Amino acid sequence: NTGAEHFLPDRSGMSDIAALRAAAADCQGCDLYRDATQAVFGEGGADARYVFVGEQPGDQEDRQGHPFVGPAGRVLDRAIAEAGIERDTVYLTNAVKHFKFTYKGKRRIHQKPSAAEVSACAPWLDAELRLLHPEVTVILGATAARALLGPSFRLTQHRGEPMPHGETTLVATVHPSAVLRAPDRDEAYQEFLSDLMVAAREGV
Ligand code: URA
Ligand code: SF4
Repeated sequence: NTGAEHFLPDRSGMSDIAALRAAAADCQGCDLYRDATQAVFGEGGADARYVFVGEQPGDQEDRQGHPFVGPAGRVLDRAIAEAGIERDTVYLTNAVKHFKFTYKGKRRIHQKPSAAEVSACAPWLDAELRLLHPEVTVILGATAARALLGPSFRLTQHRGEPMPHGETTLVATVHPSAVLRAPDRDEAYQEFLSDLMVAAREGV
């Protein structure tokens, strides 16, 4: 495995997200394709002004083939709506396109992707961002931050802060699953929402 680069369409085939999605379905750029059900590519409006980058598909996403359709996705959907971000301006994707998990009995337990897996998968995310060139790129959690900004970026120091980055503005926040795990869920949700409101303002 030498990363996703080799599985990307050639330049002439890079014209749209659908072509990328079709190519990613056959990716073997790291070992994660072996146990996952399918690659889960990004989805949303082709003229999306806001791209949200998560970690990797979860159990539900792996089964259904769509990003953010499980519990974390419900938190994200609610916050997007409450932040006043129009749904047709949103594209949702992940740093890593295949679900990484271990079995605990019959249950599939999410495992954090390694730095090597994140970097193997990065060509897909880079290609999505090149095609979409969103005004705002929302980083959901440390894995997405690593994919876009490298390992030295400290989310806790910069969350909710608009960061100009080439032609986009990055806004980093926690992963919505961290909201679900927080001891005080309501407080964690309000902080998450306030970061998304910062992102919302950057896109208008
Ligand atoms: N968590 C993610 O990071 N992405 C998804 O698509 C679902 C859960
Ligand atoms: Fe390819 Fe990414 Fe899946 Fe690895 S996780 S096989 S790099 S699409």
